[in-house]
Amino acid sequence: MARNFPHSFEVCTCKHVTLGEIIYAIKEKGAKTLESLGDLTDAGTCCKSCKNKESDIGVEKMELYLEEILKKFNKEQ
Ligand code: FES
Repeated sequence: MARNFPHSFEVCTCKHVTLGEIIYAIKEKGAKTLESLGDLTDAGTCCKSCKNKESDIGVEKMELYLEEILKKFNKEQ
């Protein structure tokens, strides 16, 4: 990730899921895929723009994608 985001940063604006909740789901609940993240947090289950660049259909692009967060934290484990 190019810059640091606070844990309160809303990654999924549809479902109001923050970075902190995503990290918790990955580290504590063992989410390894976009699907399991969606099941656990609801992130990425609405417009799907927050999943990755390819799915970002918004006019204003997301600053941070679920896929990037998954990659970063699954590597660290
Ligand atoms: S911003 Fe996450 S589903 Fe729409």
